[in-house]
This record gives sequence, structure tokens and C-alpha cells, in this order.
Amino acid sequence: MIGMFDSGVGGLSVLREARAILPEADFVYVADRGRAPYGSRPLAEVQRFSREIAAWLLERGCTTLVVACNTASAAALDDLRLEIAGVPIVGMEPAVKPAVAATGSGVVGVFATAATFQGRLFESVVSRFGRDADVITRACPEWVGLVEAGLVAGPEVESAVRVCLQPVLEAGADALVLGCTHFSFLAGAIRAVAGPGVAIIDPAPAVAMQVGRVAADTSGSGALAMAASGDVDLFVDLARRLAGITADRVDPFP
Ligand code: DGL
Repeated sequence: MIGMFDSGVGGLSVLREARAILPEADFVYVADRGRAPYGSRPLAEVQRFSREIAAWLLERGCTTLVVACNTASAAALDDLRLEIAGVPIVGMEPAVKPAVAATGSGVVGVFATAATFQGRLFESVVSRFGRDADVITRACPEWVGLVEAGLVAGPEVESAVRVCLQPVLEAGADALVLGCTHFSFLAGAIRAVAGPGVAIIDPAPAVAMQVGRVAADTSGSGALAMAASGDVDLFVDLARRLAGITADRVDPFP
């Protein structure tokens, strides 16, 4: 069974891709909506939440973990890997490498949370892969709020997307990294503002492929259990509307 978590609905972008690749695998997805957003919290706090959720997933018998949240990956991925032996753990890192490969202008824009930009993981990604480009960063907490409210299109979304995107485009960026799993759901709105000549790098498919490569147990019955802190019914509705995902069972978390 593959356990996956995010602060909310963002990780469903990864879950959707992973289930398409691994139709027989059983998944458990935790959305910590009651404590979202993670992106404006101190990394130490997000690390504590991540440990709690990982322990909960392991107790339920998960043999692979996916940290489907860039912020939680920045806060806890290294430590979880050290602390949990024998369980493959897949995490998110901003896709600077493919963006640098895709840019023609030499300017790359990265959209993520403030916490993600503060972590060592981001620093290391930029120093490994971003040397040959000008990497512009932008924290967009409003975008997380919109997706958690189920808003991914329409005038309010377009104007919030434009506010963050415009300065990055004006600085010459022609490759944009979606460095927060929530932002996958805004890819259409981002494309509408950015226009056709800009590469938009959504890491969800590549992360799902990585899950397929390392997952310990992918032969089940394709079952999906979900758990959420906060309003469970609202989460169920969002999962269906945003990602077309319906679970076999849904519980309150923890
Ligand atoms: N989905 C999360 C990420 O990938 C963070 C959203 C939030 O809770 O701020 O970073």
C-alpha cells in the first residue's frame, strides 16, 4: 500500500497520475487541510506534522511513502529517509533541472511557497541545476488558497495568477516551474496568462513515474482510502471536482 500526503488537495495532482500508472496499487492519501496552509509555517513545525502523518501511514501498513507536498519535502524529506528504514520515500523538489533545459531566454521562474524557498533542498537544487540560468523565485500563497477553495478558473483566478506571473514574465522568464503541488491545478490558468511560448513544468507525472519505479507493493485491488483533517465532506467534494477522484473510504485524520 502506498501512503501519500499533502497539506491539502495539492497532492491529488500526484495521486491522479500515480493511480493512472499503477492501476492495481492500493493508496492511502492524507490531506492535512485542518492545518493548511503549510507554506507560511516555520519548517520545524511542518517537519513535526510530516513525521506525525508518516507515522500514521506506516501504522496503517503503508510500505511506500510519497511526500506529495514541496513544503513538507523541504521540511522533512531528509529526516524521514534517515528515520524510517526499509520504506522507499518519494518526495517533491522544484523542477529547476527541466526548466533550465527548456529555457531559451536563460531566465527561469519558480513558483512555490515561502517555506519551500527557505529550505536547504531548494538551495541545493538551484546550486546543482540552476547555475546556467537566472532563477527568479516567487511565493504565491494566494494560489494555494484559491485551489483549496476549489477555484481554478474564472476572473478572480486569472487576476491572482497575473499578479504573480506578470513580473516574472516581464523579467524574461520563458520556463516556469510549478514548485507547489497545488499549482498543477492552476496550469490552465497559468497557460492562459503566460501564452503559448512559455514552458510550464508540472512535476506530477515525473514524480508518479518515480513512485512506479520504487514502490514496494503495487499489486493490490486499486483501492483508495483518504483521510482529512478539517472538514472531511468538503475535502471529498474538492477531490472529486478538482481531480476527478473518489475514494472507497474516507476517514477523519488523525
Ligand atoms: N502543496 C504544498 C506544496 O507543494 C503546500 C501548500 C501549502 O499548504 O502552503 O508546497
